[in-house]
Amino acid sequence: MNIELIRELTEAWGPPSQEGRVREIVKTHIAGLVDEMRVDRMGNLIALKRATIKPAGSEAPKRVMLSAHMDEIGFIITHVDEKGFSRFNSVGGLRPLTLVGNRVVFADGAVGTIQIEKGPRAATEAPGFEQLFIDVGAADRKSSPIKVGDLGALQGVLAQSGDRLIGKSMDDRIACVVAIEAMRQLKQTPHDIHAVFSVQEEVGLRGARTAAYGVNPDIGIAVDVTLTGDFPEAPFMEVALGKGTAIKVQDSSVIADPRLRNLMVQRAREGRIPYQLEVLTAGGTDTAAIQMSREGVPAGCISIPCRYVHSISEMVDIKDIQASINLLTAILSKPIDLD
Ligand code: CO
Ligand code: ZN
Repeated sequence: MNIELIRELTEAWGPPSQEGRVREIVKTHIAGLVDEMRVDRMGNLIALKRATIKPAGSEAPKRVMLSAHMDEIGFIITHVDEKGFSRFNSVGGLRPLTLVGNRVVFADGAVGTIQIEKGPRAATEAPGFEQLFIDVGAADRKSSPIKVGDLGALQGVLAQSGDRLIGKSMDDRIACVVAIEAMRQLKQTPHDIHAVFSVQEEVGLRGARTAAYGVNPDIGIAVDVTLTGDFPEAPFMEVALGKGTAIKVQDSSVIADPRLRNLMVQRAREGRIPYQLEVLTAGGTDTAAIQMSREGVPAGCISIPCRYVHSISEMVDIKDIQASINLLTAILSKPIDLD
């Protein structure tokens, strides 16, 4: 497993609309694996690998769009008070309970710590955003390095514990790794593969929507993390860490095309790739943006099981990452006939 690439990507800074640093890393690693690259007006990176096997007759190769998002959940500063303490809101699905004591980094490298008001509510209630503040150590508002409208992201380093990796932004940088490594592993393909590294997924699948319009794919495959039901008092969910890649059946944004989902299952069985079926009752993915593009696109999703999604310590299993790379490679290597 390419742990160094996982480290580089998960530790990179990139809240929604500020994906440039992540995009540069992806570009560097995928450059030798594709035929063309472009960045669209929204900031999506679109890497094209052309078909190496010609389809029968005069048919053009199918256009297959992949999508893995580059952005991570972030913070936006809403107010800086006279003493230099900042209030913020979430850009994407942050939960206040997971934040206290963590650090936030801003574009220019300024760092602050998230703390909570010590009022009477602090001892008895789960905090809301209105009780939290960011302290950058400034003497007052004037000397604070951050101002209203600044975007921040959590600061965190990658850790390894056996087969398990713990880090921030596994959502969705681990999927960027899966897409890059699948392109590396792919020996031949009958498809024109448009590997999209999308922007602004966490605020509503915005980058994938415009990318799908531009690419105009015949088939769409998103790659993202999914929740698990395998920790104490987790919500009921079949997906567990270490039991293989997850083939999406449904999430709250999309019903995966049943034909494409069945083909994914078939490819997993043929390749003896461990897999699980994923039914996610909360949360959406780029899959939906591709499916609803233009006149509709058959779309599915390969998910990497992940505990504690949207916290600073998202946990994934190396075996599941490898299974996801293997399944994506197997799907792209052969014709995708859905009729
Ligand atoms: Co997310
Ligand atoms: Zn995601």
